[in-house]
Amino acid sequence: MLDATNIIKASLEVGRELLRPPHESDSTPEQMRAIPLLVPIRSLGVNHRTRIATHLLSLEPHDRYLRFGYMAQDEQIQRYVDGLNFDRDEIFGIYNRKLELIAMAHLAYASPEGQDACAEFGVSVVPAARGRGYGARLFERAAMHATNDGVSLLFVHALSENAAMLKIARNAGARVERDGTESEAFLHLPQATLDSQVTELIEEQVAQTDYRIKVQAKQFWSFLADLQNIRRDVIDGQARTPP
Ligand SMILES: CC(C)(COP(=O)(O)OP(=O)(O)OC[C@H]1O[C@@H](n2cnc3c(N)ncnc32)[C@H](O)[C@@H]1OP(=O)(O)O)[C@@H](O)C(=O)NCCC(=O)NCCS
Repeated sequence: MLDATNIIKASLEVGRELLRPPHESDSTPEQMRAIPLLVPIRSLGVNHRTRIATHLLSLEPHDRYLRFGYMAQDEQIQRYVDGLNFDRDEIFGIYNRKLELIAMAHLAYASPEGQDACAEFGVSVVPAARGRGYGARLFERAAMHATNDGVSLLFVHALSENAAMLKIARNAGARVERDGTESEAFLHLPQATLDSQVTELIEEQVAQTDYRIKVQAKQFWSFLADLQNIRRDVIDGQARTPP
């Protein structure tokens, strides 16, 4: 898990990333592995519902099968998104510089208060962003949040063929029980500590700030593009005007 010093170091790296214009491609998996992995993971509210739908609807049929355990059709995904309970559950997301939701996780609580309870974890990462550790970081973040909420057992329902998901769970210390084509991973969570609470607070603040900067950066680059278009139109107009 990241501590406060690593969070600050990695935040600087994230800041540097944000200064690049959006037309430059996002970092490669190799570049991502070279820096300490602070991924700004933010908690998503109800105003992110449309982007969550866009993210999930962009998944290929096989990914939908792995994510939901069946070949979810568009209407089923839309129903799932419409039914997300942002008060009871926790939804986490990772945005890129174009403000596209490239990864998200759903921590679903078995009881309204989340006390003495278990919570289920579900996750998806767009294919272009896989292999950068986002899935693992989302799991870690969800586990920390569940811990701080007093949850003692985190579980994941996955297809046995889902090597990446089961690896994430095993790496985090979960016990995996296979039952034919389906598997369950169980992770017993420790008691919350001051450290886990402060770390989550800092991570959320970093992610919220990162998001606000991305919004402003996107507005700035689109403002610049508009200016360039106006300039181009003026130059074209002057060229067409007879002397
Ligand atoms: C499962 C999923 C979320 C993984 O996301 P990701 O960001 O690529 O995962 P990470 O980069 O954090 O990799 C996690 C681990 O899995 C390993 N891994 C990744 N892809 C793998 C694959 N195809 N086969 C085996 N291991 C794989 C990684 O090497 C890493 O292990 P390591 O840290 O020991 O090297 C992503 O593949 C996905 O969205 N799949 C479709 C939806 C889904 O299956 N959801 C899970 C069910 S709820």
